[in-house]
Amino acid sequence: MRKKVIAGNWKMNMLPNEAIKFIQDLTPLVKDTKNEVIICAPYTDLFYTILNAQDTNIKIGAQNMHFEEKGAYTGEVSGKMLKSIGVEYVIIGHSERRQYFAETDETVNKKIKAAFENDLKPIVCVGETLEEREKGIAFDVITKQTRLALDGLSNEQVKNTIIAYEPIWAIGTGKTATADDANESIKKIREEISKIYGKDIAECVIILYGGSVKSSNAKELFNKSDIDGGLVGGASLKAEEFAKIVNF
Ligand code: 13P
Repeated sequence: MRKKVIAGNWKMNMLPNEAIKFIQDLTPLVKDTKNEVIICAPYTDLFYTILNAQDTNIKIGAQNMHFEEKGAYTGEVSGKMLKSIGVEYVIIGHSERRQYFAETDETVNKKIKAAFENDLKPIVCVGETLEEREKGIAFDVITKQTRLALDGLSNEQVKNTIIAYEPIWAIGTGKTATADDANESIKKIREEISKIYGKDIAECVIILYGGSVKSSNAKELFNKSDIDGGLVGGASLKAEEFAKIVNF
């Protein structure tokens, strides 16, 4: 049985004082869950959230990292730096980074490898645009992104990669993929992993759904056979709403 994972992606939101209050408010609301609870915070909140999440079941992740360990890369933050302050997870290849910051399948793959080298668990995002969906090539797009993201990883690393299927047309739009459609896409991703790494490994990989997840649709989505939880944007900014999703 795969564990359910509910990860919040705050994106470019939350000042440190808001982040601290959020963690303090969320702590009692999710303390009894068996699900993995992760908050992916902006760099400027990471240290505060880590301090305040100590001795709780809330894990902290970053939203991006550079693949090099150090050097002349102005404005970048490395996996080693994240690890040094106690970060455990890192989102890699979010569609907003692919769209606005020139993230490619190649840099995604390099970042995943660098995350593992630094003992960080990657949450790797894949997803098709509306145009790709309408052309009928959504499955080709997401299986290709998955294949290229995982290229060259060991079986053990693949097992420990979290994938987030986030159809771009469903992000921040209020449009959610139907639970059946999301499950179908996630099954395709799992089949692709199975073709390359074998069924046993594919069955271990945690694959999340992301795109307008909220407390009112979480249960239906997360009860599907292949959906192992969610990567939650807007609805992760309020502790009570996010807690309801965690406790779906
Ligand atoms: P929304 O939940 O706001 O649609 O965002 C989804 C997302 O991009 C999470 O990474």
